[in-house]
Amino acid sequence: MKIAVLGSGDVAKTLGAGFLKHGHEVMMGTRDPAKLSDFRREYPKARIGSFAEAAAFGELVALAVKGTASAEAVRAARAGKLTGKTVIDATNPIANAPPTNGVLKFFTSLDESLMERLQKEFADVNFVKAFNSVGNVRMVNPQFSGARPTMFICGNDAAAKQTVARILDQFGWEVEDMGGAEAARAIEPLCMLWCIPGFLRNQWTHAFKLLK
Ligand SMILES: NC(=O)c1ccc[n+]([C@@H]2O[C@H](COP(=O)([O-])OP(=O)(O)OC[C@H]3O[C@@H](n4cnc5c(N)ncnc54)[C@H](OP(=O)(O)O)[C@@H]3O)[C@@H](O)[C@H]2O)c1
Repeated sequence: MKIAVLGSGDVAKTLGAGFLKHGHEVMMGTRDPAKLSDFRREYPKARIGSFAEAAAFGELVALAVKGTASAEAVRAARAGKLTGKTVIDATNPIANAPPTNGVLKFFTSLDESLMERLQKEFADVNFVKAFNSVGNVRMVNPQFSGARPTMFICGNDAAAKQTVARILDQFGWEVEDMGGAEAARAIEPLCMLWCIPGFLRNQWTHAFKLLK
């Protein structure tokens, strides 16, 4: 597939490299291409453009920007073409405030997630929450003694979730579909839980697994 990755941070670079590894074509979108000059050297096949150019290129889009900037980034991307496309939403609504005893602060509430806000503002785009509940170093084909970790996803469009589930399968994840966009109220805070061992004990390499 042709995939756009919006962002230039660790998550964007990890997902971009993962998509290339699995044979997809990739365009990274950023306001500042200079931030991706090392990435460009390492992955010469990756295209680099603005948010709008990347969105126009991608049949599938991955949103990997700072949570506080996510709406702004999607607005910029819309100048390309996003209507009807699936957007993998890897963002978390982390507030610009330090954690308390290792517990991150969010700028959303338990009654309204960031993805719901995005889905409401950009109703012609199919958002699917994914990749937000694991650190970037474990996003692509993580090795856990043979066990597949679980990625919780949600979104309103069934076909969009199937597309994202296929990507997650390629990336070595077991997928648990938690339903519509409202489920992001539960999936986004998994990021808070995931980060606690990191902040308290410097453990950053775990992932979640749903036992059944
Ligand atoms: N780090 C992780 O391991 C991890 C794991 C799971 C989920 N996440 C989530 O994934 C997202 C990306 O995380 P990250 O650590 O890779 O990077 P980050 O530092 O949270 O975000 C960097 C990106 O945000 C964009 N950005 C910042 N301000 C902006 C603005 N005003 N308008 C448009 N774009 C803006 C930057 O765009 P430019 O390229 O244009 O500068 C850059 O690409 C976050 O929402 C994070 O919570 C992170």
